[in-house]
Amino acid sequence: MHGQSTSLQWGGRFAQEPDPLLLRFGSSLEEDLVLAPFDVACSRAHVAALASGGIIDPSAASALDAALASVAAEIAAGTFAAPARASGAEDVHGAIDARVRELAGDAGEWLHAGRSRNDQVATTLLLYARDRATYGCRLALSIARFTLASARSTLSDGTLLAATTHWQPAQPVLLAFWLEAVAESFARAARRFGRVATDARESCPLGSGSCSGSSLPLDRTLAATELGFSGPSRNALDSVGDRDVALDLLHAAARAVVTASRVSEEIVMWCTPAFGYARLDDAASTGSSLMPQKRNPDPFELVRASAAVASGTLAGALGTLSGVALSYHRDLQSTKALAIAGVEGALASLAAFERAFPHVRWNASAMNARAGDGYVVATDVADALIAAGVTARRAHALVGAAVALAEAETRPLDGRDLARLALEARLDSLEAPLDAAASVRAKRTSGSTNPAMVARSIDALEDALEREFGKVAV
Ligand code: ARG
Repeated sequence: MHGQSTSLQWGGRFAQEPDPLLLRFGSSLEEDLVLAPFDVACSRAHVAALASGGIIDPSAASALDAALASVAAEIAAGTFAAPARASGAEDVHGAIDARVRELAGDAGEWLHAGRSRNDQVATTLLLYARDRATYGCRLALSIARFTLASARSTLSDGTLLAATTHWQPAQPVLLAFWLEAVAESFARAARRFGRVATDARESCPLGSGSCSGSSLPLDRTLAATELGFSGPSRNALDSVGDRDVALDLLHAAARAVVTASRVSEEIVMWCTPAFGYARLDDAASTGSSLMPQKRNPDPFELVRASAAVASGTLAGALGTLSGVALSYHRDLQSTKALAIAGVEGALASLAAFERAFPHVRWNASAMNARAGDGYVVATDVADALIAAGVTARRAHALVGAAVALAEAETRPLDGRDLARLALEARLDSLEAPLDAAASVRAKRTSGSTNPAMVARSIDALEDALEREFGKVAV
């Protein structure tokens, strides 16, 4: 009879052994091994709740706690996973329970009193989410701080860049402006992770049992406090099936990698000889097995791909949840597996991005040389007409015609164009930026690429990061 088995936590009512293929199909051990340390923390808090409620005596509690401390040490030393795999346990919770029963003898038989894997999984997942959200926040913050510092240092040398829209030359900006933009987007990524870490401290499911609570007097408040939550959850039916924080974490991770991917796209392009704006250090580049000349920006290409994977995983995880009624249903095992896989993959990719980004060397002279190409000052010339009283439509049409003429003569816009435009608009004269540096200086609005405005934005973001994340060391 399989009710005797030590590796499975159920079976007393079953007369047949489980079908091995179906048991393997239902196993979540591989995907939830990463949860092992968090399950131990959760189990120790449960022991405290049992002891404080008078359900187990102090000696059983200390035997259980000692056994759990040993399991924690095995996990930290990397010696837990192999025996757990060999034990035939259905999941990491069963594996830890089995190991505690081996280590603690009779006391071990009390560990699962008043507990279901349902409240255990929900609680463990919140502890995991807290840990990974904090890590994600650190990574995003580190990228934001690095790019902000780079923005500050390149601001002083005034490196120019032809900003594009549709990948077509649009308007000149400062490289510092681009770097500050990257910092802004990673600051938002850090905030998203930060909010997940906060939410993962709110409500502790432990003590919810399978779906309705427990008839044992568990000290839920003590368990919640020990685990760093604000308090126990308010509704067992909700809390055993709630995967909101796990999905918010997956969303934050996927969003952060999508951000990294968009920046990667530009870096990959800029590293091509056609652009020549950037060169990646050898340490972050890879070569070709055939073409000796090659130096490829692989880390950034892989980041780009991982954004697609993370986004797909997020969609998949949402899908697994959408058919699940309140309370626990086994589909949630797949939601969890996708959340973990998605988060681990996205964070690994974010860590690679954080490592690779400082290896990008900007080629300021190539950027400066091209910053004025493609009639990118045309908008400034039109703005100058508008400022002199010409309507926006007419200014646009006049400058469009001037661009067409200059293009036909294969030359940039110059003083002759301004003189002709002044005549056409019945102005005494027209002054407008004709090169990229003048264009950038001509910008007036806050949040623009004007060097003074960029300096202001860099200061403001730096202050905001200090205020919001001062405590988060990177
Ligand atoms: N391995 C399962 C999971 O990860 C554990 C929960 C099982 N609960 C149950 N009622 N069968 O979701």
